[in-house]
Amino acid sequence: GKGQYDHFMLKEIHTQPTSLQKTIEGRIDADEHVTDLDVDLDLTDIDTVHLVGCGTSYHAALFGSSILNRCDVSARAIRASEYDVNTGTPPENTLFVAVTQSGETADTLQALRQASDVGASTLAVTNVVQSTAAREADEPLYIRAGPEIGVAATKTFSSQAVMLTMLSQHIARVNETATRVNNVGQLLSDLRALPSAVDRILQSSDAAGLAQEHLDKNAYFFIGRGLGCSVAKEGALKFKEITYEHAEGFASGELKHGPLALVTERTPVFAVCADDCDKTVTNAKEAQTRGAPIVAVSPPSHKIVDTADAHLSVPDMHPVCSNLLANVQLQLLSYYCATELDRAIDKPRNLAKSVTVE
Ligand code: F6R
Repeated sequence: GKGQYDHFMLKEIHTQPTSLQKTIEGRIDADEHVTDLDVDLDLTDIDTVHLVGCGTSYHAALFGSSILNRCDVSARAIRASEYDVNTGTPPENTLFVAVTQSGETADTLQALRQASDVGASTLAVTNVVQSTAAREADEPLYIRAGPEIGVAATKTFSSQAVMLTMLSQHIARVNETATRVNNVGQLLSDLRALPSAVDRILQSSDAAGLAQEHLDKNAYFFIGRGLGCSVAKEGALKFKEITYEHAEGFASGELKHGPLALVTERTPVFAVCADDCDKTVTNAKEAQTRGAPIVAVSPPSHKIVDTADAHLSVPDMHPVCSNLLANVQLQLLSYYCATELDRAIDKPRNLAKSVTVE
């Protein structure tokens, strides 16, 4: 049941300290600075990685591809529904990673079969033991987040992103041409501290108060760079799913290439600045000049806080962790806006938890 919570979504947001703990359990060796994944697959000669999923899982794939790219591993996140038209035959030595909470999404399964048919090595990053994706991939990588009831994916996004981060460091270690992220020690120790950092966000977040001030606007924009771009896209998807308000998430630098035409004092801009993002500060200021209220989602010391009209705080940790904590703040923001608007939070109109048609 929902226990003390009004909705499964809020319960699942609050479960993240525990679900993340399960995701990382036994998989990070802090002394040796390595991730230890039980993958019985030879990844030494992998030349390129295709991370494929839909919706929120696609955003986790984007997050994972950014980290792999930082390790000099060629990686692409691809929307599962676009795989057949936009990918061509996967090159030799491709690792295909299906990212799917349910393990039953039709588009993702179709892409998985296409990649298997041409001999790619395949992994399924999934939450559901013995799901179709888990059975059909060469190896399953279970995120162990526990059942997710709310249609809007929350805890499973966080666990998928952490799983893909651990996978990236596994590949970086065993692969001949890869390098590990240069601050891998900090990354791994911060990952181990992530569950308690999420707990502190849940205790201290200002998202509920902020939600009151941001109802009834024309549109909601979410911007970020690098890892922050995947968080911005995920923030906007969650927001539109459960509030039914128009929201868009994109790379900060894209603002001036079109979306700026929509910016007014009635379009708040949420700027994810949990990484090196001086450019995002400049982009946010451009929106502010047109009257948009700016909400910084950043560590307290980040210089965007000086210009922002409001602030959702995250600790200054490794960018992987700070960005995932920024995502937790945005989950709470969407949730509280949706409650104020009295939406059907756990079962938004027109949506299903598992999409088994193409
Ligand atoms: C959004 C959401 C959907 C799913 C998508 C893929 O909150 O839940 O966008 O992420 O339908 O589902 P899975 O991960 O089961 O393949």
